[in-house]
Amino acid sequence: MEKSFFLVALSLILLFSTVNSLGFEEKDLVSEESFWDLYERWRTHHTVSRSIDEKHKRFNVFKENVKYIHSFNKKDAPYKLKLNKFGDMTNHEFRSTYAGSKVNHHRIFRGSPNGTGSFMYEKVTNIPPSIDWRQKGAVTNVKDQGQCGSCWAFSTVVAVEGINQIKTKKLVSLSEQELIDCDNTDNQGCDGGLMEYAFEYIKKNRGITTEENYPYTAVEGTCNLSKEKSRVVVIDGHENVPENDEDALLKTVTNQPVSVAIDASSQDFQFYSEGVFTGDCGTDLDHGVAIVGYGTTVDGTKYWIVKNSWGSDWGERGYIRMERGISDKEGQCGIAMEASYPIKSSANPPEKKASHTVDEL
Ligand SMILES: *[C@@H]1O[C@H](CO)[C@@H](O)[C@H](O)[C@H]1NC(C)=O
Ligand SMILES: *[C@@H]1O[C@H](CO)[C@@H](O)[C@H](O)[C@H]1NC(C)=O
Repeated sequence: MEKSFFLVALSLILLFSTVNSLGFEEKDLVSEESFWDLYERWRTHHTVSRSIDEKHKRFNVFKENVKYIHSFNKKDAPYKLKLNKFGDMTNHEFRSTYAGSKVNHHRIFRGSPNGTGSFMYEKVTNIPPSIDWRQKGAVTNVKDQGQCGSCWAFSTVVAVEGINQIKTKKLVSLSEQELIDCDNTDNQGCDGGLMEYAFEYIKKNRGITTEENYPYTAVEGTCNLSKEKSRVVVIDGHENVPENDEDALLKTVTNQPVSVAIDASSQDFQFYSEGVFTGDCGTDLDHGVAIVGYGTTVDGTKYWIVKNSWGSDWGERGYIRMERGISDKEGQCGIAMEASYPIKSSANPPEKKASHTVDEL
């Protein structure tokens, strides 16, 4: 009786604390039994259900991940890791599901749209020491792509939401699902895509609709033409930031949030918790994210503020700070290799005065 009360209380606590990740202590790692206990708590916390068979296989992966995180955090690195919702996934599985934009694949096999071929921020000279577009109201809440390789759509939308707020002073959450379902010419829904194609799709469609009108489902569906035609925010194409040039990237971020491709495949990226990410990673671009600011820590480490699409429980409330100005000209994890941003000079279509609500009455 007492025990069941305790369990109810516990599950309520877990219910209300799901935005935080589950911590663990030394004593959780002492025996097979304590590890199992931790695994069960982790599964409850992240509401991960696994079949009995799978559980045994996954338990071993979980154990190795926990050990890795534990020993990493004992080191004196500028960033920390945490046990998050990717806790029982191998790095290989993680990569194929969450870092699956196949940006490089696209680039190599299809070429990519060149944008206008010009760079409008070339002559920018006024570079403040830091910028945070979140504080300027140009960034929506962190979203979660789920198990769908649609990071490219999320990355695109961050940049379009940003420039739209900068030009109109209105922050409107826009639809990734429209891009996934309707931009079928070059992009491949949950199987990856490129932000540059998505900007061009929005231009060609003469706008994109809202998140509210065309909500996210994490699966590729048939394009809903009536929603596609319900255009709310217009852009006029895109430009590419000159590649491998973090100064050019800085000039751009000073003016608007920017879509970037990175190599997010490392185990440290998988379990990143906080701090400036200085970890080893390649330049095999596989993940689309967006830079929404930059700054410098008190000890002088320069960083980019990067919005991810893995929910707000990953990293720093859904964000990662990545080292800026490293000696490799490709930038940390290739962040300066394929940056692009939407152009907006055209006004949005006039707002429809909620006529459907009137109809419903
Ligand atoms: C894009 O640039 C490449 C190389 O710089 C060029 O070969 C190609 O024709 C360009 N494509 C367009 C559409 O301008
Ligand atoms: C498309 O969306 C509208 C609402 O905007 C809905 O009424 C309609 O059923 C949807 N069409 C399809 C094919 O799902």
